[in-house]
Amino acid sequence: MKKYFFSAVFCCLVYLGKGQNMAQTPPMGWMTWNYFADNINEKDIKEIADALVSSGMAKAGYNHIFIDDGWQGGRDNRNNIIPDPMKFPSGIKALADYVHSKGLKLGIYSDAASLTCAGYTASLNFEQQDAKTFASWDIDYLKYDYCGAPEDTETAKKRYAAMANALRESKREIVLGVCEWGDRQPWLWAKEAGGQLWRTTADIRDKWKSSQLASKPSDLHRLGAGIMDIYDINVELTQYAGTGGWNDPDMLMAGLYGKKGPSGELGGKGCTDVEYRSQMSLWAMMSSPLIASNDVRTMNEVTKRILMNKEVIAINQDALGKPAVRKIKIETYDVLMKPLSNGDIAIAILNRSDKTQTIKINLEAFGLTGNYLINDLWLNKMIGKGKSWNGTVESHETKLFRLQASK
Ligand code: GLA
Repeated sequence: MKKYFFSAVFCCLVYLGKGQNMAQTPPMGWMTWNYFADNINEKDIKEIADALVSSGMAKAGYNHIFIDDGWQGGRDNRNNIIPDPMKFPSGIKALADYVHSKGLKLGIYSDAASLTCAGYTASLNFEQQDAKTFASWDIDYLKYDYCGAPEDTETAKKRYAAMANALRESKREIVLGVCEWGDRQPWLWAKEAGGQLWRTTADIRDKWKSSQLASKPSDLHRLGAGIMDIYDINVELTQYAGTGGWNDPDMLMAGLYGKKGPSGELGGKGCTDVEYRSQMSLWAMMSSPLIASNDVRTMNEVTKRILMNKEVIAINQDALGKPAVRKIKIETYDVLMKPLSNGDIAIAILNRSDKTQTIKINLEAFGLTGNYLINDLWLNKMIGKGKSWNGTVESHETKLFRLQASK
């Protein structure tokens, strides 16, 4: 009797503990949407999986392939959601097996209404059945969108909790990415509803910033959100993110160069490599998910260097899980500071202006009273020692430093 009691308690604890360790650091990977939109198929996704491995992206930490909208082929006569048989003739389970055999994880996409944003079959009122299906395919992550759902926050909380519970009951660890674009302040409730990350803004476009000023964040759905528009919203929310629950300011733009498709719409005419590198630096500092969206099969050397800088990724993936705080915000530049688990400090200096600037920062002004070895993570070298930094920052460039206390 006693034996049964203890094993029942043990099982219960295991069940309660399940999922507690998900998304300990911001998820990383590659997402289909910006490059392929809904023109996805198993052949291209397998090629991307191969390229993630051969390019070194997987080794650098990009260990997920996130299938976005467009995979669905409706429901079968038992109402099980099925993939489009033309796009995925071997089925999603076979694709998951392939992706797993490469050491990668597989994400999938649905929506908390009857149809997704691109008009495909979605999961409202089929949460348990779909979660079971995803688990049976060995899915590791679900991006759960919110097109076609009501405006109010209470319904959103309920619909996300319904899917989170269904995933939990599926007995497979499936990370839940909430995607209602920040319109209902999900940083206040998404973790409690069972999500591990939540989009904070409208979809990112391949541009530095919107040519018109948005009077409220949701205007960016219409105006098209650039890197700066999204950064300025997300950087104010860093207090809400941490281990197991992350702000998601959407995908990385590096390597897209104004490609036609979702990221190229609403003024997404492309950015310079300096701007793409800035996005990588700022996303790393804000502990954002690092989700590449360019064609990794053909990316150039500059894009590889932007996406695969080990030291920059280490700032993002640091075990302390503390996103940066904005210490200085003036018209022309910003300074961010992020504490790291070994006691080092990361500092970013963003030149927001259209001109090269000479900037001097005094570390004591941020409460950093010691002497520091200053490592420039894009030059990949130690550039000095002391209590301050003084140098030039190009227009739209972000300098990224790791400071190590020294005598
Ligand atoms: C919404 C999401 C995007 C993408 C599309 C797919 O716009 O915010 O990230 O998933 O839907 O239709």
